[in-house]
Amino acid sequence: MARANIFVGLEIGTSKICAVVGESRTDGSLRILGVGQVPSRGVRKGEIVDFETATQCVKDAIAEAEDKSDVTVGSVFLAITGSHISSFNNRGSVMIPEDQEEIEDSDLDNVRAAAAEVSIPSQNAFIHSILQHYYVDGQEGVLNPVGMLGRKLDADFHIVHGIRTRIQNAIRCVKELDVEVEDAVFSPLASAQVVLDHHQKNLGALLIDIGGGTTDYIVYVDGAVKQSGTLALGGDHITNDISMGLRLPIARAEKLKVEEGSVILGNCLPGETVVLQDESGFVGKEVERETLNTIIHMRVRETFDLLKRKLQQQDNYLDYLGAGIFITGGCSLLKGIDHLAGEVFELPVHIARAQSMAGVKSAIENPQLAAAIGLIKYAQAIHMDKPRGWISRLKQKLPRFLGLLLFFIS
Ligand SMILES: Nc1ncnc2c1ncn2[C@@H]1O[C@H](COP(=O)(O)OP(=O)(O)OP(=O)(O)O)[C@@H](O)[C@H]1O
Ligand SMILES: [Mg+2]
Repeated sequence: MARANIFVGLEIGTSKICAVVGESRTDGSLRILGVGQVPSRGVRKGEIVDFETATQCVKDAIAEAEDKSDVTVGSVFLAITGSHISSFNNRGSVMIPEDQEEIEDSDLDNVRAAAAEVSIPSQNAFIHSILQHYYVDGQEGVLNPVGMLGRKLDADFHIVHGIRTRIQNAIRCVKELDVEVEDAVFSPLASAQVVLDHHQKNLGALLIDIGGGTTDYIVYVDGAVKQSGTLALGGDHITNDISMGLRLPIARAEKLKVEEGSVILGNCLPGETVVLQDESGFVGKEVERETLNTIIHMRVRETFDLLKRKLQQQDNYLDYLGAGIFITGGCSLLKGIDHLAGEVFELPVHIARAQSMAGVKSAIENPQLAAAIGLIKYAQAIHMDKPRGWISRLKQKLPRFLGLLLFFIS
C-alpha cells in the first residue's frame, strides 16, 4: 500500500542497514509503522566498498520494512556519512534593490546563493546549507526578514560538503532497486531531529552518534547548527582492539564487548575474570575483566579526545553547551560511556535516543536507529513546508547542491 504521508528513512551503516517506515499524522505527530534491519556487508567506515553486496543488503532491509509495515517503498530519505564530509560556517550578504520597499522571498534565495559562493574542492558537492541567523541592516537575531524594511540582508549558514562520487555511490545503491532517493541527509543532522528538542538546541548541545565505523557529531548553539562532522572511528575499532589484544576471533570479541564490556576502570576485583564458554568452534577461555575494560576505555577515550581537539580547533563552542552532551548510536550502550565522556568534556552527558514518537516501541528505544528515525522527522518537516516533488525540482535548478537548502530545518 502506498500512502502520501508515509516517509522512509534509510541508513546504510557500517554495522547494520536499516529502513524505517513512518507515518506523518495530521496533528504533526509521527508513528513508526515498521523497521527492516539486516547486518551490513560491503560498507566500511560508513562508506560503500562493495557495491553489489551493499545493494543486496539494502534490498533485504527494504523488503523487510515493507513486510512489517504493509507499505510499498517507492522512495527514501538516505542518511550519509563518512570522514570525507566537512563543514564550515559562512556569511552571505546582499543589498536590497533601491526600488524595492521591503525584503522579499527572492532576497532570501539570493543571500543563500551568496553564502554558497565559496570554493570547495572540485571533487566535492554541497550537501547542506543550514541557516543559522539573519541580520537586517546589522540587526541580529532576525528570524524571518520577509516583509521587513532594510537595505542590507546578511545571513550566516552552516555549510556541509563531501566527495560527490562517494555520496552518489550510496544513492546509486538505492536507485539500483528502482527506489528514489528524495534527499541525502548528513547522518548527525538526521539523528538530531529526534534526539534533541528545541529547548536543548537553544541551550546548546553536542550530539555524538557513535556507530560501528564512524563517530558523527553536530553542535547546536542558540538553536543553530555551528559545527558538524565525522571521525572514522567507531565500535568496530573497539572490537578489533579486543580481538588483537586478547587474541580472539572478531565475532567472539564483539560478543564479549557487548555482553561484558565497560569503559570504567578500577571497578573490578583483583584477578576478576570473564569465562568464555566453550561454544561451536571456539574453545573455552578466561580473560581478565580489567584488561578487557582497559582496551575498551583506551579506544573510547581516544575517540573523545580526538573529537574534543577537533571541536576546539574550529570555533570552540564547548563553553556554550548549556544542555550538555547527548550520546546515541550503538556504542551509546557501552557501559559507563557517559562517565568517560563527562570526564573528557567536563560537561553533563546523557545517553539518548529518539524522543516523542509513537509506534514500534523496540525501534524507538534502540539508539542504533536514531539516524533512520530522524530522517522521517526531517522528511515530515520538509513536506509540511513544501509539497512532494518540490525537492527534485529544486535540485534541477541548483545542480551544485546535492541535497536540500535548509531554511526550515535546524
Ligand atoms: N549493547 C551494546 N553494547 C556495546 N556496544 C554495542 C551494543 N550494541 C551495539 N553495539 C555496538 O554499536 C555499533 C553499531 O552501532 P550502529 O548500529 O549505530 O552503527 P552503524 O550505524 O551501523 O554504523 P556507522 O553509523 O558507524 O556507519 C557496533 O560497534 C556494536 O558493537
Ligand atoms: Mg550509524
